[in-house]
Amino acid sequence: MLDIEALIEETKSFAPANKEELETFRVRFLGKKGVLTELFAKMKEVAPEERKSFGLQVNSLKVAAEDRLNQFKDAFEDADTGSNQNIDLSLPSDPNPLGSFHPLSLVRRKIISIFSRIGFNVSDGPEIEDDWHNFSALNFPPEHPARDMQDTFFIDVNPDQEKYKGSLALRTHTSSIQVRVMENQAPPIRTICPGRVYRNEAISARAHCFFHQVEGFYIDENVSFADLKQTLLYFSQEMFGADTKIRLRPSYFPFTEPSAEMDISCTICKGKGCNICKYTGWVEILGCGMIDPAVLENNKIDSKKYSGFAFGMGIERITMLKYSIKDLRIFSENDVRFLDQFKGVR
Ligand code: PHE
Repeated sequence: MLDIEALIEETKSFAPANKEELETFRVRFLGKKGVLTELFAKMKEVAPEERKSFGLQVNSLKVAAEDRLNQFKDAFEDADTGSNQNIDLSLPSDPNPLGSFHPLSLVRRKIISIFSRIGFNVSDGPEIEDDWHNFSALNFPPEHPARDMQDTFFIDVNPDQEKYKGSLALRTHTSSIQVRVMENQAPPIRTICPGRVYRNEAISARAHCFFHQVEGFYIDENVSFADLKQTLLYFSQEMFGADTKIRLRPSYFPFTEPSAEMDISCTICKGKGCNICKYTGWVEILGCGMIDPAVLENNKIDSKKYSGFAFGMGIERITMLKYSIKDLRIFSENDVRFLDQFKGVR
């Protein structure tokens, strides 16, 4: 005699992996020669007093088997026909996570927008430069230490490009774009030049072998140091807040005279003293100066008629100050835990 209880249990826990397994199940329980046909046939042999409960049991097995069959039949049929019966098309779709701007891009875009409001456009130049554009036209004497192998990545050339030998390098600053713009445009010129630059430096929390700069310069009649100072004050307050102060310290660059380095009041401690500003209340953010007349003449601009100012800043430095980032290596590690924090920032 078949154990009906066990068969009911079996039916209830049955979970087919495919249509074929379901069909085998159907044949076994509900087929013409199946378990149920056999049980119904046995009904006659059962003693009359047990017939009722036997009948009820067989019936619950039948119901259980049919239930199971119907349940899976639908599922496999859906998969077969690709029907969408179980999909609610009115539900919102799974959100597609959007990326974020890289913090360096955010700051570059902000710098461009600040300067565009006072009439600066954007210029570009190549990352592989020749000696003239990166050094000579900018008044670097031949023995200047910045040309040294320590700082510059020189580029090997093919033997058939002998004339470039020793002259091609990855640009060490965006000042090379100044030269390219002066070659191609007549004053008045008012432009900023963002770009990646390369220096042969040991990588640390504060220095990398590549980073980003924005160069800016303005050439016209009667451009003065006061114009430079006012432009940089406007920039600093737009970038770091209206209460930001600036100070200029005398410095030296081959291509500007006079030259200066500019500090802003520390954005972290507001001038009170902290370890970012090394307890001075000031942090350096850029180099600047009046374009040396020799540089104008190198680029065939009449230095008696025209004067100009120039400045150059590191985008990493500005970004570190703006977002309190302590190690610049994180900018090139592509760690999404870092980058995700800039989601939605514009
Ligand atoms: N090119 C300089 C540097 O890389 C910065 C600078 C640009 C200074 C323009 C003065 C004028 O350090």
